[in-house]
Amino acid sequence: MERVRIGVVGCGAIGQAHLSVWSQIEGASIAAVCDTARPRAEETASKYECAAFADVGEMAASGQIDAVDICTPSGLHARQGLVAAEQGLHVLCEKPLDIDYGRARELVELCDSRGLVLSCVLQRRTYAGAQAVTQACHEGRLGRLISCSAYVKWWRDQAYYDSSAWRGTRALDGGVLANQALHALDHMVWIAGPVSAVDYAVAETRMHNMEAEDFLVAAVRFESGAHGIIEATTCCNPPLCSRIEVFGERGAAAFDDASVVQFGYGGVDYTDSVRDVDSRLGGRAEAMAISLQGHANIAADFVEAIRQGRKPIVTGRDALVSVAALRDIYLAATPTTREGRRPRRPE
Ligand SMILES: NC(=O)c1ccc[n+]([C@@H]2O[C@H](COP(=O)([O-])OP(=O)(O)OC[C@H]3O[C@@H](n4cnc5c(N)ncnc54)[C@H](O)[C@@H]3O)[C@@H](O)[C@H]2O)c1
Repeated sequence: MERVRIGVVGCGAIGQAHLSVWSQIEGASIAAVCDTARPRAEETASKYECAAFADVGEMAASGQIDAVDICTPSGLHARQGLVAAEQGLHVLCEKPLDIDYGRARELVELCDSRGLVLSCVLQRRTYAGAQAVTQACHEGRLGRLISCSAYVKWWRDQAYYDSSAWRGTRALDGGVLANQALHALDHMVWIAGPVSAVDYAVAETRMHNMEAEDFLVAAVRFESGAHGIIEATTCCNPPLCSRIEVFGERGAAAFDDASVVQFGYGGVDYTDSVRDVDSRLGGRAEAMAISLQGHANIAADFVEAIRQGRKPIVTGRDALVSVAALRDIYLAATPTTREGRRPRRPE
């Protein structure tokens, strides 16, 4: 195959970052961009010397692209992916695959049935250190897993939520769990498997003027039998950490973002053997203060998956697992949190 012709949908913050990544990827060319804000689409198109569209359906039907890269608000991802897949286009999608599990599953099934590559920007899964530790967990080297937990204590100011109408809405963004903590949630289910039950969940809107939660605590069980705690917030200033901790009957590991900071089993410390040069994602206080190395890994892998007719590192089915966990945790939390208040305990 010649170069894979990419059409980027959404020319906002992450869309611009993707475009700078695509311009460096061998085997791909930027063929079109699409944004409902037409001047933004046209300005971006003139920078990258490609076609401009304001409608994803028109871009998908244009015959000018082989694949779409979806960088729009999260609640639009699967719908736009479906429009593209209907036209036989491969789909790369920013995280999460969608806010809505049913729509996300429909997208996975359509791409599978048509033999199209579907991948999602869950970039932690591309780092060698994180891959090695996860593989060790899956192979049972840490023994049976007892616990896998995530702590994401970050900061966003009100101006961030006010910067676009979709931010912090339940329909298009979700709260801190669906947005800022999604990578940590995906990391948990990557290591410990799908969430099978939510024993406790509280989602509150504590500090920001927004519809969805800016603070969430949940206790979950995984199909693997492990338990986990998730604590996620955008209320913590200064921001503290994005940490994953996992331990089993024979070993343990801890991550700072995607970087392994501790790893050992059977009484031996293997931390130095799995350190990556730079696998910190960033983004603790500012959404776009992030490393783009993981995005570049995902983009290059997506193109090679298309060219070689193989699965990508992150498949649509991989990405669906954290969307199912999102659904279950939000369902468990909803009765206590719809108005951002806890119900009064019975006297
Ligand atoms: N993987 C990561 O590390 C990472 C980092 C940042 C953002 N993201 C994800 O990227 C997505 C976008 O975030 P952002 O910060 O770039 O948002 P943004 O608001 O800056 O950009 C979104 C763009 O989409 C356009 N848009 C809206 N509706 C559209 C439609 N129907 N068709 C075409 N274009 C449309 C908007 O005009 C805007 O230009 C979110 O899903 C977010 O979770 C992922």
